[in-house]
Amino acid sequence: MKKIVITGGAGFIGSHVVRRFVNNYPDYDIYNLDALTYAGNLENIKDIEDKPNYKFIKADITDAAAISALFKEHAFDGVIHLAAESHVDRSITDPLAFVRTNVEGTLNLLNAFKELWAGNFNGKRFYHVSTDEVYGTLGAEGLFTEETPYAPNSPYSASKAASDHFVRAYGETYGLPYVLTNCSNNYGPNHFPEKLIPLFINNIINNKSLPVYGDGNYTRDWLFVIDHAVAIDKVFHEGKNHQTYNIGGFNEWKNIDLVRLLCKVMDAKLGRAEGESEKLITYVKDRPGHDLRYAIDASKINKELNWEPSVTFEEGLNFTVDWFLNNQEWLKNVTSGAYMKYYDNQYTNRV
Ligand code: NAD
Ligand code: DAU
Repeated sequence: MKKIVITGGAGFIGSHVVRRFVNNYPDYDIYNLDALTYAGNLENIKDIEDKPNYKFIKADITDAAAISALFKEHAFDGVIHLAAESHVDRSITDPLAFVRTNVEGTLNLLNAFKELWAGNFNGKRFYHVSTDEVYGTLGAEGLFTEETPYAPNSPYSASKAASDHFVRAYGETYGLPYVLTNCSNNYGPNHFPEKLIPLFINNIINNKSLPVYGDGNYTRDWLFVIDHAVAIDKVFHEGKNHQTYNIGGFNEWKNIDLVRLLCKVMDAKLGRAEGESEKLITYVKDRPGHDLRYAIDASKINKELNWEPSVTFEEGLNFTVDWFLNNQEWLKNVTSGAYMKYYDNQYTNRV
């Protein structure tokens, strides 16, 4: 495969995937297709923008005609599809935006790929990047496996579940060669500060309150974003067609314990007295439909593709905090203008 289009490559995870593919595969042409929404930022991949095997295409996956024309023009052999509306809280206020991008946008890509290769899929691949949230919520025990039934609880996860179903259906109905992964919560450099870890890092730096939803006893399984990019590389090259792989960090944390750890790490790095940042913790109104616990059984990708996380949470979190402290200009740029309006809508009167 030579011509690969990565959608959402200006976003958090996509930028790490684009960087990895551009640097590791000089004989591939890598096209980064992104609409540059509030979450997309070309600064995230500035270091590779001049490489000869990299091209940026500004396009919106909800525009069927534009996507079809681009596929005809470039004849992409491979698609790695990450573009999405990705924030659960935003999906609660504007579900339709999630249907347009996550469902219709995915269908437009599937249709363009199907029409381009017209059944002659030899050596082609469509990789759909999805989330563990499609499985719904776990109780105190158990793990999500690839066989766990879908039971999405938020408009975001419902839209991702729908897109997963369409990918699978195109595999069954049209023989489209797909692979699909469902990953747990990522963290790391370039994470947009609407999500828990980067939001709280930014608020600690600025001495703003840390809005913990509900009682804080919700559990997530955290994976360092570069380890996710490695997993995506492996599945793209070695995964079996029509297969799903779960990807996770083997790293469960209750939100409140994670926030306390983050406060401790940041107090040390900012030269504050231990316990200082914890004083910023404020319990606020819960997220509606809040999933109690996510935890991934990643044994299939581990056994079949020999993938496992390469860093401990301590290493990954230290690296991440250092990155944000050293890139405060990036943080300031992405938290200006429209972000402040979002923040006010989301958090004012939530206490
Ligand atoms: P993100 O919100 O940081 O980035 C999304 C990117 O998609 C942005 O660059 C944005 O400009 C682009 N985009 C949005 N709508 C578009 C459209 N209509 N057309 C073209 N581009 C568009 O998202 P992320 O956190 O990097 O997530 C990437 C993917 O991984 C998503 O599909 C998400 O569901 C999935 N995922 C995320 C996580 C996580 O923890 N962040 C975990 C598992 C799976
Ligand atoms: O599990 C994978 C998913 O992880 C991805 O598919 C999503 O794209 C990604 O956004 C993430 O979803 P979450 O809802 O788990 O992530 P978020 O960072 O929004 O929240 C993590 C936990 O922290 C969750 O239990 C809600 C809580 N939270 C979040 C925010 C933003 C708070 O307590 N306060 C907050 O201000």
